[in-house]
Amino acid sequence: MTILGIAGSLRKGSFNSSLLRAAVELAPGDVAVSLCELSSIPLYNGDVEADSLPQSVVELREQIRQADAILIATPEYNYSIPGVLKNSVDWASRPPDQPFDGKPVGIMGASAGLYGTVRAQNHLRQVFQCLNAFVMLKPEMMVARAQEKFDGEGRLIDEKTREHLGKFIKAMVEWVGRFR
Ligand code: FNR
Repeated sequence: MTILGIAGSLRKGSFNSSLLRAAVELAPGDVAVSLCELSSIPLYNGDVEADSLPQSVVELREQIRQADAILIATPEYNYSIPGVLKNSVDWASRPPDQPFDGKPVGIMGASAGLYGTVRAQNHLRQVFQCLNAFVMLKPEMMVARAQEKFDGEGRLIDEKTREHLGKFIKAMVEWVGRFR
């Protein structure tokens, strides 16, 4: 099984990128989690699209299409989805053959605040409703007060969070199995 991890942050020290790296570590041996890069995705522009899709967008769409499932780690900006992530989803979603159609998706997130991105995650669920992607309902994965859960090198050091992430990945593998 292949899972494509997408972090909604470009920050080098991103908690969400770190959370995805922890997911790579904790995934069962027969599940390959690869991480994609959003830093070269331009801002969406319909004129550019009408001309031709940027190469970075073509590659992102292909990575999404090839993966059995998508695992998103989203920050929360002003109670919602960061522009970097929404912009990338918007580019990837353009017809024909938008690659999220029928794709199983897991959503998780880490933030410095007390609610661990729950509001951004709910907004993202609504976006994937539009795209006919099948977002796993439970368990949820919210990492609150992320600065206390990762060390200076971005390793997930909080045992309870690691344990929950392991359960989350296991549930996701089962969720993906329903659509195969
Ligand atoms: C934030 N942050 C934030 N946190 C939160 O829990 N709820 C929020 O609504 C917001 N809003 C917000 C807006 C903007 C513009 C920024 C830059 C930040 C803080 C955010 O959770 C924190 O910066 C995380 O560390 C971002 O995730 P990464 O980059 O570490 O993955």
